[in-house]
Amino acid sequence: MSAVDENGGTLRPIAWVGRLDGYVDMIDQTKLPGTLERIACRDVETIHDAIRRLAVRGAPAIGVAAAMGVVLGVRSFEGTDRRGFLDEVERVSEYLAATRPTAKNLFWALDRMCACAKAHGDSDVAAIKQVLLDEAMNIRDEDAAMCRAIGEAGQSLISDGCGVLTHCNAGALATAEYGTALAVMYSAHERGRDFKVYAGETRPLLQGSRLTAWELQRAGIDVTVICDNMAAHVMKLGLIDVVITGADRIAANGDTANKVGTYGLAVLAKAHDIPFYIAAPSTTFDLSIASGDGIPIEERAAEEIHGGFGVPTAPEGVGFYCPAFDVTPADLIRGLITERGIIDPVDRAAIAKALA
Ligand code: MRU
Repeated sequence: MSAVDENGGTLRPIAWVGRLDGYVDMIDQTKLPGTLERIACRDVETIHDAIRRLAVRGAPAIGVAAAMGVVLGVRSFEGTDRRGFLDEVERVSEYLAATRPTAKNLFWALDRMCACAKAHGDSDVAAIKQVLLDEAMNIRDEDAAMCRAIGEAGQSLISDGCGVLTHCNAGALATAEYGTALAVMYSAHERGRDFKVYAGETRPLLQGSRLTAWELQRAGIDVTVICDNMAAHVMKLGLIDVVITGADRIAANGDTANKVGTYGLAVLAKAHDIPFYIAAPSTTFDLSIASGDGIPIEERAAEEIHGGFGVPTAPEGVGFYCPAFDVTPADLIRGLITERGIIDPVDRAAIAKALA
């Protein structure tokens, strides 16, 4: 079983409620693990803000939120001018694209929404609005299906008695449902395997301890939180058999951007001869970028480092540098677990073949 919501149902961080005049219901992930609170988003500005402040986060979930955000942004368009409506779809997409720069799924979903509107450019405006809502729902449903397939593809990597290390949150909360890296764990758990997950807490915003530990616990999976700087030690003790994380963007050669700290874990895994895997859907790949050098890395506010615990954690006046992601070189990655199977070896040719 995967993580459950407050009613014992499948944990879904984001859903469209009602018809075209409905709203987006999302879990406010900034409130976890303390409270499971939901936000009703009735306009695109609320979605924009939710993505910026990480109320919804994780590459696939951001893509789903943005697709639904496009619908919220254009549904009040008045009149029957098709050209003007298509321009409005572009304008709203550009507004949402400016929220966060690294996750490919955001741009992939927005491009798909724009392409969908254009493909129906001969219909009347009311019909295109409905088609866009249908497309956003398709994006959500397809992501859920890809996550299930990722779990199936990777589950055999986790055997009975295994120790698994993960970083940040690549679980149900980060996707439409089920997750990517955590999908592999849920799938092994559903097969009755007994294993232990170590969740790196993931400074500065603690997605590992706040979110991953929360959802694994709700799924009944044995989870232990460690501070990020304890990873080498637990590896040396022999507690880790495999490392599995998610991804925000994978370049054509397999270099992978994920939450800052992932690269360090990959280096440590190599030093301890532990296989390191990335789990991600095909929508996270960006074949237009040759290598990790071309992936834009988001930099976030200094307060996330020195104000995250509600008290100052550094003296005033010092400098801060807060990159949200880093890039793990392909040669440190044993395999890419996708909905199409595990890509191994991780190189340009194997990726091109798997995604063809
Ligand atoms: O800043 P965040 O919380 O959006 O970062 C999320 C991650 O780095 C995840 O590992 C990644 O998006 C994969 S989610 C399936």
